[in-house]
Amino acid sequence: MADATVLTPVLTDTWDADKPWTLATYRAHGGYEGLAQALGSTPEDVVATVKASGLRGRGGAGFPTGLKWSFLPPADGGPRYLVVNADESEPGTCKDIPLMLANPHVLLEGVAITAYAIGCTHAFIYLRGEVVHVYRRLLAAVREAREAGLIGTGTGPRGDFDLEITVHAGAGAYICGEETALLDSLEGMRGQPRLKPPFPAVAGLYARPTVVNNVESIASVPGIIRGGVDWFTSMGTEKSAGHGIFSLSGHVERPGQYEAPFGITMRELIDMAGGVRAGHRLKFWTPGGSSTPILTEEHLDVPLDYESVGAAGSMLATRALMVFDETVSAVRVISRWTDFYQHESCGKCTPCREGTYWMKQVMHRLEQGRGVPGDIDLLLDVSANIAGRSFCALGDASAAPIQSGIAHFREEFEAGMHTPAAELFPYQASAAF
Ligand code: NAI
Ligand code: SF4
Repeated sequence: MADATVLTPVLTDTWDADKPWTLATYRAHGGYEGLAQALGSTPEDVVATVKASGLRGRGGAGFPTGLKWSFLPPADGGPRYLVVNADESEPGTCKDIPLMLANPHVLLEGVAITAYAIGCTHAFIYLRGEVVHVYRRLLAAVREAREAGLIGTGTGPRGDFDLEITVHAGAGAYICGEETALLDSLEGMRGQPRLKPPFPAVAGLYARPTVVNNVESIASVPGIIRGGVDWFTSMGTEKSAGHGIFSLSGHVERPGQYEAPFGITMRELIDMAGGVRAGHRLKFWTPGGSSTPILTEEHLDVPLDYESVGAAGSMLATRALMVFDETVSAVRVISRWTDFYQHESCGKCTPCREGTYWMKQVMHRLEQGRGVPGDIDLLLDVSANIAGRSFCALGDASAAPIQSGIAHFREEFEAGMHTPAAELFPYQASAAF
């Protein structure tokens, strides 16, 4: 295992270079050598290398990337697609957007290698419409790559590699980051999750076999091809191999993106970020944005890998490390997150559509000190009826901060219940609400 205290600039290594987003800068740092190498081997070899590297999906779920590629059914002469999920929207998550802005070509090279590996000739990159600056940068990079003969028709050493890349900007909905809602949106429909199975690998875009991968997963592929499996697995832990971008935000001196091997600890990352802001102390933090149960000071030395964070009662997910100091009200923060989930609930299933609405009402009155006796039990009851009973992960995500917030800071929730129910809500005191 590599020394986890050392930063590992792989995807971020050119971010400080002059115009890092250009093809010239990328090529000066070895860009597109991985593609040349991949095109010189067989697609099966590329899939085998990525499988052996242990690369796990960087979008949050951590599903093994090479395994996902190998789920595609055998070629039947029809199209198969690669769709890059660039719809980064998780509160606190800020890795794919800076990566695409700073170095769009590492993503395009990863797309080209993956497309070759899975036999795809048309790939899509789906991102939020609000990030128009990223959209324009990707369009310019695709143009550059096409003009340089890296993608297009009849490229590669044998002149038989065909690849078209379409960059698509969605209308801006968190649910369109869920892979099947993304596919619906890409097909021109309202973005709502589809029932799985069938998984996209079997029936995805236009009901054809489709690989959906996160930006950082695909951008990690060129390095694996160039550096090899041993290089990649020399970083991280046995089951969470390689490097990852950790986004630190909130009450640290130097918030930003820190690329490091999996298994680094939050204490080490906070140190690198200059510590908690001067004169203050850590109160709580999230390992993977608002969707993951919050952690506290006692978890600072947990290795940030999928297994260890899971054992600590949370999820590594997107490595969106939000840091909150003692000036922050846990109830207020969780109330804002609940607003977010209620707003972004797509409405397809009842537990999430109704439950997030009711949790928002209760969180608001607790935040304002207008809570009524029984509110904490009500929150626990509603959240328990959402988690595990919703159609997609958004429902589970909405329950996690409330349940963990009450577990860690119950006294703050109790402090929101100042007023006897009958005084403020005579109607509600006699009914459930
Ligand atoms: P999931 O665990 O259901 O699936 C993960 C991936 O593996 C999917 O691509 C799925 O198609 C594939 N897969 C799983 N089992 C399969 C099988 N038997 N055959 C073929 N393919 C299979 O997780 P999901 O719902 O896709 O993602 C949830 C994660 O997304 C959460 O952990 C959360 O961290 C993350 N997330 C990230 C956001 C962001 O902004 N990056 C926003 C919200 C959530
Ligand atoms: Fe839509 Fe929420 Fe149900 Fe997901 S859990 S399908 S976002 S209503």
